[in-house]
Amino acid sequence: MSDEPFTLVQFQRDGLDPVPELARRRAEQPASRIQYPIGPPLWLVAGYADSKAVLGDSDSFSNDFKNLTSDDDLDFLKQLNPGGLGFTDPPDHTRLRRMLTPEFTMRRLRRLIPRIEEIVADRLNAIEAAGPGADLVDLFAVPIPSLVISELLGVPYPDRAAFQRLSESRFDFLGDIEGCLNAVQETLDYLGALVAQQRTDPGDNLLGMLVREHGDNISDSELTGLADGILIGGHETTASMLALGALHLMTNEEHGDLVRQGDTVNEVVDELLRYLSVVQVAFPRFAMKDVMLPCGQKIAAGEVVLVSLSGANRDSAFGEDAETVNPIRNMPPHVAFGYGMHRCVGAELGRIELQIAYPALLRRFEKLRLAVDFDELKFRELSIVYGVEKLPVTW
Ligand code: HEM
Repeated sequence: MSDEPFTLVQFQRDGLDPVPELARRRAEQPASRIQYPIGPPLWLVAGYADSKAVLGDSDSFSNDFKNLTSDDDLDFLKQLNPGGLGFTDPPDHTRLRRMLTPEFTMRRLRRLIPRIEEIVADRLNAIEAAGPGADLVDLFAVPIPSLVISELLGVPYPDRAAFQRLSESRFDFLGDIEGCLNAVQETLDYLGALVAQQRTDPGDNLLGMLVREHGDNISDSELTGLADGILIGGHETTASMLALGALHLMTNEEHGDLVRQGDTVNEVVDELLRYLSVVQVAFPRFAMKDVMLPCGQKIAAGEVVLVSLSGANRDSAFGEDAETVNPIRNMPPHVAFGYGMHRCVGAELGRIELQIAYPALLRRFEKLRLAVDFDELKFRELSIVYGVEKLPVTW
């Protein structure tokens, strides 16, 4: 086995695709070692079965950064933990997640559909008014989830621009650690104030509900952490899916037409979630004991595992054409929302937003197309959530 220092292959892409090096690693070593200059031994897991084995084994793997082996150089990483579900282990994770899940059932979410449709229609009007010619990231992909999440949580709309900036710097932490830590702190300060306000005057929103129904069983910092997870988790992810999905649908006439016709929108959305895998890696998992993965690689207690969701979702488990978009593939469940106990709590909400927004966009603008060459698009580099900076379109 070769150690390959400084590899960032898990964040690198070639347009919409993971770089070929990721496929090579998946084929040759489904769990491969990465050695960075500092920090504990890291494993990159890029195969489907091994990814599920790690994500599904919360007895052996912790999500809590406190379990980073003691290393002064990495102490700053422990501060990255803002609380919330993604960085929490049972029993706290179980208690907090139980409070949240009733709000995210299909039955509850259906009530949001008319408002999401309104938000989308309003955005389409804004695009039409701006054009012909507009940036879909700015006018469509970013504001839709931003509005949906802000309204769900009770975050005032005028603050949304600040949140967008904060969540971008948060995910770009490989580029600028300090910027990332400041972004985490600024967001938590803001949400802390919102929580305090909801404690005294609980509104008709998610935070208000949590205060009313579970106020005695949840601390202010836990409430802030939950709000942070939802805001950050539900914002950038969905925005990237909206932009990159629209890009695929504009440049692939057959799939664009499928979405316009409407019968297979759900299938197209699910396949785009798999194919695009905008959340490129899962939260780091810290091995609490020695574990043997299905591929035969042993992970030792104290080691850290990065699960490459974009790698796992292109595994041949999805068929020989796993590297292409095929909405009628009869596939096993993808891991674009993760797997196991930490699987995305907002998966259905994210799906609903995409299922409403893509057809509405393509029906309103029958002749929607890229206004620049594909090669001129600037994609994010080294970001946990993959995305495109701007999406200039015309019609
Ligand atoms: C298409 C959009 C979305 C994608 C691709 C996505 C992806 C993911 C993934 C991969 C995870 C699991 C990470 C892991 O196990 O390490 C996750 C967790 C999470 N997501 Fe999402 N997400 C999306 C939308 C949302 C929305 C709309 C919300 C909020 C309403 C949300 C809130 C969360 C939260 C709170 C967690 C942590 C759950 C836990 O640890 O128990 N996400 N998401």
